[in-house]
Amino acid sequence: MKSFDIGEELRTNYKFLIGSILPRPIAVVSTLNEDGSNNLAPFSFFTGVSAVPMIVGFSPMIRTSTGEKKDTVINIEREKEFVVNFVTQSNMEKVNSASEELAYGQDEFIHAGLTAVESEVVKARRMKESPIHFECKLRDILNYGDGVGSGRFITGEVVKVHVDEKILEEGRINTDLFAPIGRGAGNDWIKCTDRVQIERLMKAQIQK
Ligand SMILES: Cc1cc2nc3c(=O)[nH]c(=O)nc-3n(C[C@H](O)[C@H](O)[C@H](O)COP(=O)(O)O)c2cc1C
Repeated sequence: MKSFDIGEELRTNYKFLIGSILPRPIAVVSTLNEDGSNNLAPFSFFTGVSAVPMIVGFSPMIRTSTGEKKDTVINIEREKEFVVNFVTQSNMEKVNSASEELAYGQDEFIHAGLTAVESEVVKARRMKESPIHFECKLRDILNYGDGVGSGRFITGEVVKVHVDEKILEEGRINTDLFAPIGRGAGNDWIKCTDRVQIERLMKAQIQK
């Protein structure tokens, strides 16, 4: 086995992260720009954090090209709310377009050919092409530095969930109907179509 000391070389560290932590779920985060237009961007450093309260978290890094905070961060710091939308086989290419760097204030729904719909609790809009939406209120921003590649871990409390009835089966989200997509290394995106079932030995599980 080859061992590596970890220093401050962005490319090296980043390659270990994206090559090891996979498949990664993708949060497509929508926020409101200062002029009321919509910002949308995918983040694969994304996870569930707590069930009660219901908390999710994701990590935008300082932009490599400019050394500045990403627009998503600027908007969440000001508005204190956001929506997490999800990637599926049918919206993945449009979501990819939403990751392009646009001038601040340029509406990324319009740029990506996606549809913005009003939320019920927060001002940030939801992405119609996503079958699940989490409306979130900001909980924490943990800051791991200001240099290029440094991350912020942003957590939000989910205050409203919307699920398209088409992907629901007996009250649960059906993975095949949802058809979620994850992120791999490089330009890989990962379909969730090749799965195995392993029964857990413990009986009292929160999923049951
Ligand atoms: C599938 C996918 C996953 C991404 N994940 C992340 C991530 O976890 N963290 C990050 O900083 N950038 C990530 N990016 C890049 C951002 O989406 C990109 O920098 C975007 O322009 C940020 O937009 P904003 O400035 O509107 O916030 C990802 C891009 C793609 C296509």
